[in-house]
Amino acid sequence: MEATKRRSLIQMKDVTKKFGKGELETVVLKEVNLTIHEGDFLMIVGKSGSGKTTLMNMIGFLDRLTTGTYSFLGEDVSLLNENKKSSIRNKHFGFIFQQFFLIDSLNVAQNVELPLIYAGEVNKKDRLEAAEKYLSLVGIPEKIKAKTKELSGGQQQRVAIARALINEPLLIMADEPTGALDSDTGIGVMSLLRELNKQGKTIIMVTHDEDLLQYATRIIRMHDGSFVEEGAVR
Ligand SMILES: Nc1ncnc2c1ncn2[C@@H]1O[C@H](COP(=O)(O)OP(=O)(O)OP(=O)(O)O)[C@@H](O)[C@H]1O
Ligand SMILES: [Mg+2]
Repeated sequence: MEATKRRSLIQMKDVTKKFGKGELETVVLKEVNLTIHEGDFLMIVGKSGSGKTTLMNMIGFLDRLTTGTYSFLGEDVSLLNENKKSSIRNKHFGFIFQQFFLIDSLNVAQNVELPLIYAGEVNKKDRLEAAEKYLSLVGIPEKIKAKTKELSGGQQQRVAIARALINEPLLIMADEPTGALDSDTGIGVMSLLRELNKQGKTIIMVTHDEDLLQYATRIIRMHDGSFVEEGAVR
């Protein structure tokens, strides 16, 4: 499908992000423009400190723009209050991080179910069934009762991906999802993300690793607060 025919999820126009004031002011993003369509697998690359996480935080409603406009599913994000932003975030975004951020005092199923609990899903049986479904999807159904500490890094990241998927979000946000994994395990996680993208899931991912760009359908390279889009490799 052509990009123009797919639904636009996100539109950022002339977005600037500054931290600090006066002499301490840092301009991290300079009037950038970004449109994300359903089905994109967008990778954001750039050296350390170039603003990749800052951009992800703004996309995921975790930080505010300094200037510019952000519209999400046609709604102006600046007009939403914190409650509304939290509920949109919980419903439409699934987050995956380099350090997994699983809760060690909960078992695998309980970790995966967390977004459903936040969303108010009270039926335990439904939650467990959903956890089973998504743990199967990420290839580790047998770990459903395991303690998170008993899992390998790659298995922990699969649990985190199942947790990110369980609410059936529109977007998966992944900041260096393979950063803490050895390269073979990382390739396993990337294959899973590519499979999810082929099934239609929209993914925005940050990486340092040029070798991973082959998985993207779009690539944005950040540099000095601006970015350029490059053709995808695949
Ligand atoms: N809350 C904050 N307050 C002040 N400055 C910040 C804040 N968050 C980020 N910055 C600055 O913004 C710039 C971009 O940081 P960011 O974390 O987005 O970089 P990054 O591209 O994700 O880097 P890395 O690859 O190391 O994760 C850095 O100069 C950082 O010091
Ligand atoms: Mg970062």
